[in-house]
Amino acid sequence: MTALARRIVVTGGTSGIGLAAACRFAADPAARIVLNGRNAERGEAACEAVRARHPGAAVHFIAADVSSATGAQHLVIEAAQHLGGGLDVLVTAAGGDYAPALFHDTPLPDIDGIVRHWLLATMYCCHFALPLMADGGSIVTVASDAAKVPTPGEAVVGAAMSGIAMFSRTLAMEAKRRRIRVNVVTPSLVSGTLTHDRITAGGFSARLFEKASRGAHLGIPEPDDVAAAIEFLSGPGASHMTGQVLSVNGGISAG
Ligand SMILES: NC(=O)c1ccc[n+]([C@@H]2O[C@H](COP(=O)([O-])OP(=O)(O)OC[C@H]3O[C@@H](n4cnc5c(N)ncnc54)[C@H](OP(=O)(O)O)[C@@H]3O)[C@@H](O)[C@H]2O)c1
Repeated sequence: MTALARRIVVTGGTSGIGLAAACRFAADPAARIVLNGRNAERGEAACEAVRARHPGAAVHFIAADVSSATGAQHLVIEAAQHLGGGLDVLVTAAGGDYAPALFHDTPLPDIDGIVRHWLLATMYCCHFALPLMADGGSIVTVASDAAKVPTPGEAVVGAAMSGIAMFSRTLAMEAKRRRIRVNVVTPSLVSGTLTHDRITAGGFSARLFEKASRGAHLGIPEPDDVAAAIEFLSGPGASHMTGQVLSVNGGISAG
């Protein structure tokens, strides 16, 4: 793999953190990027947004629901074909439409959905991507600080996020034999995202994050702040880092 010709797949790349990461990757004119989401209209708009920032960027959208194994498989196979047979970087930033709720108020289907949309989706994408990934490649999974900080209202998502973190760290110990690095980024609250709008819309979740936000003395991060960490972890500057779980949270907690 050369740093100048990376083949990159970003799940959840049509909005928020994933889209911001794609914009950073596209600053390299040799990068070839596949964005993923479920909605084709949003996908094409995201590709246009990347090209508007970086004219001539090689960016392509593939629609797939990565919360199912078949969706993740479709994405990875199609992406590898589009990128000439393999990939160098996988970023898993797809998110579901959860808002924190106390466990006793969480219906069973929501428990299944949260685990599937975060933990299983991450595992599915890595499962299909790993055999197609070039030696020396890099995986960055996006979880959340709920992986580290027990927070009322985040029992299920916290379990899924800490599952992503431990899965990624353990995968790092397996994949290092191929010099593939696996690291995790854990935001807390990120402004200008669909997630932010949903969890601050009202009720228990809004009160929870309003309280948390008061601890963000460095400011609530924007998607590009998290994307900077993703770019770093995926790139040569982090070539000796693997199995790390990096918080980007404006000081809400020490992670
Ligand atoms: N924003 C925050 O405050 C925050 C805090 C902590 C952690 N996080 C985590 O960071 C990640 C990114 O969050 P975000 O707020 O930047 O995202 P976002 O703005 O909510 O966008 C989510 C992205 O994921 C896609 N997506 C959702 N479900 C998908 C699925 N099943 N298959 C494929 N694509 C899917 C969406 O496109 P479609 O809807 O078209 O599929 C969109 O591109 C998520 O895992 C989120 O939980 C975010």
